[in-house]
Amino acid sequence: MAKKSKPTFYITTPIYYVNDVPHIGHAYTTIIADTLARFKKLAGYDVFFLTGTDEHGQKVEKAAVKKGLTPIELADRVVVRFKDLWQALRIEPDFFIRTTEAFHEQGVQKLFKKLLDKGDIYKGTYQGWYCVSNEHFLAEDVPLEKEGHKICPECNVKAAIVKESTYFFKLSAYQQPLLDFYERNPNFVRPQVRMNEVVSFVRGGLKDLSITRTSVKWGIPVPGDPAHSIYVWFDALHNYLTGIGYDWDLERFEKYWPATVHLIGKDILRFHAIFWPAFLMAGGFSLPGCVFGHGWWLKDDTKMSKSKGNVLDPYVIINAFGPDPLRYFLLREIPIGNDGNFSHEGFVHRVNSDLANDLGNLVHRTLTMVRSYFHGTLAERGEERENDRKIRQDFTGLKEIVYAHYDGTAVNRALEEIWAYINAVNKYLADNEPWKLAKDPGQRPRLARVLYQAAAAIRGVSYLVFPVMPASAQKVWEFLGEKEPIQSRLYSELDFDGLAVGQTMKEPTPLFPRVDLKEFLAEEAKREEAKQTAPSSSPKTEGIMDYISFDEFKKMDLRVALVLKAEKVEGAQKLIKLQIDIGTEQRQIVAGIAETYKPEELVGKRLIVIVNLKPAVIRGIESQGMLLAAVLDDKAIIPFFEGDVPPGTKVK
Ligand code: MSP
Repeated sequence: MAKKSKPTFYITTPIYYVNDVPHIGHAYTTIIADTLARFKKLAGYDVFFLTGTDEHGQKVEKAAVKKGLTPIELADRVVVRFKDLWQALRIEPDFFIRTTEAFHEQGVQKLFKKLLDKGDIYKGTYQGWYCVSNEHFLAEDVPLEKEGHKICPECNVKAAIVKESTYFFKLSAYQQPLLDFYERNPNFVRPQVRMNEVVSFVRGGLKDLSITRTSVKWGIPVPGDPAHSIYVWFDALHNYLTGIGYDWDLERFEKYWPATVHLIGKDILRFHAIFWPAFLMAGGFSLPGCVFGHGWWLKDDTKMSKSKGNVLDPYVIINAFGPDPLRYFLLREIPIGNDGNFSHEGFVHRVNSDLANDLGNLVHRTLTMVRSYFHGTLAERGEERENDRKIRQDFTGLKEIVYAHYDGTAVNRALEEIWAYINAVNKYLADNEPWKLAKDPGQRPRLARVLYQAAAAIRGVSYLVFPVMPASAQKVWEFLGEKEPIQSRLYSELDFDGLAVGQTMKEPTPLFPRVDLKEFLAEEAKREEAKQTAPSSSPKTEGIMDYISFDEFKKMDLRVALVLKAEKVEGAQKLIKLQIDIGTEQRQIVAGIAETYKPEELVGKRLIVIVNLKPAVIRGIESQGMLLAAVLDDKAIIPFFEGDVPPGTKVK
């Protein structure tokens, strides 16, 4: 009999720009994709999970110039940061695509040529307002500001007029086919509100789309006309085809295309729900099943961005808690379509209560009792009573509900249900008081039954949370004496009684640390302050020297700065806010020097400032640079210039 082939599930994340290192927002999308991919594998699907980096275009070109690197040098460095972070977060894509790889570039050129030959791409001239931040021309109805320029409504940055000879994609010809497609596939865009936004935008009329640039050198050349480079979005979107083998691994391509779900942030919905299906229609490809637009993680109610200095570094949390608590929090806190506001308080609270208390304690006390009362093996369990049966039967119901929620991308609901069950098991233990049963030798079968019920429930729960918390779930599975890895068992094969009666359970080690909120916040504040205000550590404490190259040193832009104004930062003992003149402009910096200097003695002084350091927000104040100082017994001593050195003079 021929073996039935598994259904396929192909999931993608956006490919991330390499203009900067990843933050929690990027991690969020990729964690969702990894979780859904893991779930679908358990459910028996043949899964392909693709992520990667978007390396061409003006944004990357500009960032590279700023850093004194070539674009590919920058890309090579940043890609490592993405890959490392995915590893640290236990994210396991099946393939990581870089758009600078030859197979992708050739694939894109081939697709471009195909549309050109077909007449869906033609040459013309374009003039419009262009947003460099998100690499697109603004819609014409974006109003002019008083000062005579336009602001990109999505990125909130100033757009510039760009006029150039360009190739257009005939997007206008796809207005009706797109509307027909949406009508036939009302779930193409999810959540539903986003579908409505897309439909009304397309109904409003589609203009042809400029898809090449002469002003951007860092891009894939137009085949046969290399003065033009292909627009970064045309290039990037096609990664979803080239990443599974278009034009280089036909078998794989045919197996997985069309994508089941493109997971994206809501900021890039229009590119995925309008341009992308139009490109695919033009190229004669079948269309993806769904574009899921998730919400944003905000910090202090605003979108994270470098210029605001409110970007969250995932390693602060990973280093303190490990990867699973971060994965859990991001998925548990909000439904995937909504926005969420990230706070360290909220994070610590949730981790302590759900992970350390509810789940961690349940595992710990159950397994400790199994070890101490039965040396790890529950062979002599008694009959199942009504309340024992309930724990088993409820698990069967839970398994079904959780399946439906994962399958419907409602991961927070799946976790809610699992936690309601965990709490029911905690209550079951409290009601049955195994620690009291243990005192009566006649109750050993009863005691074994109660502990078996709890252990079997724990086993089931760890399987169900595996897509979200793979490392911790596997650890619990091993405490229970399971030999095979979780992912070797299909969802349909999971049952409550699968915990073998003679199985020997191990002594558990703590699963999740309980963290003191005050200590964590104090650590975090100290870390931020140290990072922003003081040279790293005292030379006396430094051991082995890590050499840097001269090129690396040259990247630091050190300048003479004149202090114009200085005042203490309220509520911060060590901090002074300075207005400085750096020759070309005035800046504001915050420095941890109040223990050695009074603000008034600083005015008129000339000192050294590193001016190309990433701006940061310290105690709510933006610091646009850092002054240099020696640090002696935790106190800063600033080298001042004696003579009249003009502000802005380079220090090297
Ligand atoms: N390169 C394009 C995508 C091309 S896809 C063919 C791009 N890259 S990006 O680096 O800016 O990352 C975009 C994605 O990162 C967003 O769509 C979103 O998925 C994720 N996020 C970035 N910041 C985010 C938050 N603050 N919150 C949640 N997700 C965020 O756009």
